Amino acid sequence: MYVLPTPPSEAFIVEQCQCAADYIREQASGSWRVLLILGSGLGPLAEAVEDGVAIPYSAIPGFAASTVAGHAGRLVLGELCGQRVVVMQGRQHFYEGYPLWQITLPVRVARLLGVETLIITNAAGGINRAFAVGDVMVITDHINLVGMGGHNPLIGPNVSMFGPRFPEMTTAYDAALIELARQVAQASKLPLRFGVYACVAGPSFETPAELRFLRAIGADAVGMSTVHEVIAARHAGMRVLGLSGITNVARLSADEGEPPSHEEVMHAAQVIAPKMQQLIQGVLLRM
Ligand code: HPA
Repeated sequence: MYVLPTPPSEAFIVEQCQCAADYIREQASGSWRVLLILGSGLGPLAEAVEDGVAIPYSAIPGFAASTVAGHAGRLVLGELCGQRVVVMQGRQHFYEGYPLWQITLPVRVARLLGVETLIITNAAGGINRAFAVGDVMVITDHINLVGMGGHNPLIGPNVSMFGPRFPEMTTAYDAALIELARQVAQASKLPLRFGVYACVAGPSFETPAELRFLRAIGADAVGMSTVHEVIAARHAGMRVLGLSGITNVARLSADEGEPPSHEEVMHAAQVIAPKMQQLIQGVLLRM
């Protein structure tokens, strides 16, 4: 019989977070304002960071490695558009086998470093029929199918140092940051989509029937990440801006289009990265 692993104690998580934060402070001192998490193929955005200190995840106590192609697996701390930013060049995913408390540890560590805002990006499949490959979607809300299925990063003892037992999620995606993104896009004539992101566990892509189900329940895009970090960030009182790069469009029946692949996702991410960069830089400048 499969038994769910016992979640670690509150004291253990606090200690892990503090060790990681202490280590990062030794490499890059001072307080930080924004955590930027870069998804599949979007890592090159970190190259715009000035005077950056790069730390591989493998060197940071408690940080899990990022095992997926397109995820460099390092933290870059420096200045971007006048903001002191912590950039995650690559993330950990549930499908890599990591428990969600470990996937969300970097968010909590960032909070200990002073971060108040999370800007989180991902590659996603477009479900909304109006969406095309290369589009950027601002996440207005999410459907956490992994969480609804019993895998929420806050399961286990509440780590009260960060937030309450039952954090509310009706305001998960910050209205002011969404408005800022809209203004930046308008000013730079960058077309922008808005919609609901559905999180699935992966790593297998969805069947056509699953994609039709996702469309029926109100999802505009689907991916295998993001919501866990958003939950940890909201628990810790951070405000969140979420951006999805549409790297492929959903195949709602087996006789349309081509099956998705990681190569296709990585290829489309190259087209999306400059748009994301423009948008994120504009938001940072106006924050
Ligand atoms: N499904 C799930 N995750 C994804 C997809 C998709 O089609 N594209 C990029 N990430």
